[in-house]
Amino acid sequence: MAKPLISRSTTALTGSVRVPGDKSISHRALMLGALAVGESVVTGLLEGDDVLRTAACMRALGAEVERRSDGSWRLFGRGVGGLMEPADILDMGNSGTGARLLMGLVASQAFTSFFTGDASLRSRPMRRVSEPLGRMGAGFVSRDGGRLPLAVVGTDRPVPITYETPVASAQVKSAILLAGLNTPGETTVIEREATRDHTELMLRNFGATVRVEAAEGGGRAITVVGYPELTGRPVMVPADPSSAAFPAVAALLVEGSEIRLPNVGINPLRTGLYQTLLEMGADIAFENKRDQAGEPVADLLVRASRLKGIDVPAERAPSMIDEYPILAVAAAFAEGTTRMHGLGELRVKESDRLAAMARGLAACGVAVEETQDTLTVHGTGRVPAGDATIATHFDHRIAMAFLVMGMASARPVTVDDAEAIDTSFPGFQALMNGLGGKIEAVG
Ligand code: S3P
Repeated sequence: MAKPLISRSTTALTGSVRVPGDKSISHRALMLGALAVGESVVTGLLEGDDVLRTAACMRALGAEVERRSDGSWRLFGRGVGGLMEPADILDMGNSGTGARLLMGLVASQAFTSFFTGDASLRSRPMRRVSEPLGRMGAGFVSRDGGRLPLAVVGTDRPVPITYETPVASAQVKSAILLAGLNTPGETTVIEREATRDHTELMLRNFGATVRVEAAEGGGRAITVVGYPELTGRPVMVPADPSSAAFPAVAALLVEGSEIRLPNVGINPLRTGLYQTLLEMGADIAFENKRDQAGEPVADLLVRASRLKGIDVPAERAPSMIDEYPILAVAAAFAEGTTRMHGLGELRVKESDRLAAMARGLAACGVAVEETQDTLTVHGTGRVPAGDATIATHFDHRIAMAFLVMGMASARPVTVDDAEAIDTSFPGFQALMNGLGGKIEAVG
């Protein structure tokens, strides 16, 4: 059953709110905790559908995974190479990260696993991981186009590879590095553009040897040494900067707002949106910067601001790949034109986000142009009309972006289905309304 929501224009947002844990780090904490010897306790884990699916899969692969009454998660791992054949199909739901990283993890385990997911995930490209994992020795049986459902025939004789990723993708990089754990020798991924490095940071924290070097011809070479002794660790998951982006932009757009977002991850490979908003004239302060279990975090203080349009270079895309929907909304309220380049990957996310944003913004009365890999938003500095119903295509970030749009538009904005928000941001509606939002069920 679809869950439509309507978002009405509101007055100054205020308060301090904790947004849920980082999705990328949460997946990785469960996977590495399941591979480590001994106990790992994870605090701040994102309890969204995507991550809960990974938790269930790690259990199906033989690890002990339990949620404790204080909200922390306790894992007891099987050791690298100690996973067990799952008795049933691994259903990754909506999660590309869960699916691609786990495919890597099981590629070098000597058993066969079957993967499926929801309609969105079953349409997404998987060759980008099955191709390099095949070079390491794993076999794949998939639907046309390499898509899910598919079977991974893990190899008991994995070979280490050096692989240059053809697309900037932390998921592809991570899948190969995770397969490299149960592989002799050194497995190397070369990436021409740096992508989020949570896998590398967390692997090191659990005791693996990971080298990052300048690659010949540009970019970086990331090497993991096979058969590490991973040891159980505490992991503290910071608040997700990609989720924090929604209340942050809402506060920038709604006049008179001032909000605080504590303990947000500010890994430099994730903060492209914040850099862009600052260039547009946003008033965002990063207070109390500190390190938390190997990841940098800060408390964000965001005040309503007048924004101006800018050019967002293609090189910045990897550090803000999930943030273009909400940036496009911010751009619709800015004065002047914002041009976003290098967005080809947005077409193969949970939905074709480039098309969804272009259509949705146009429906809200905003002048937009879309090419194969760019989005141009012509802001006028005036409040857009809103007054539209948006097709979200079961995409959490499209739904949240347009609910933020409604909070600052002249007329309400409705999203046809907000169900997908639970994949990454459970409690979104209540959190936004707690700040002063007016987001309600339709009907
Ligand atoms: C992620 C990597 C990105 C991002 C996704 C999470 C990760 O995908 O869009 O939400 O946790 O590694 P790509 O690797 O496809 O760029």
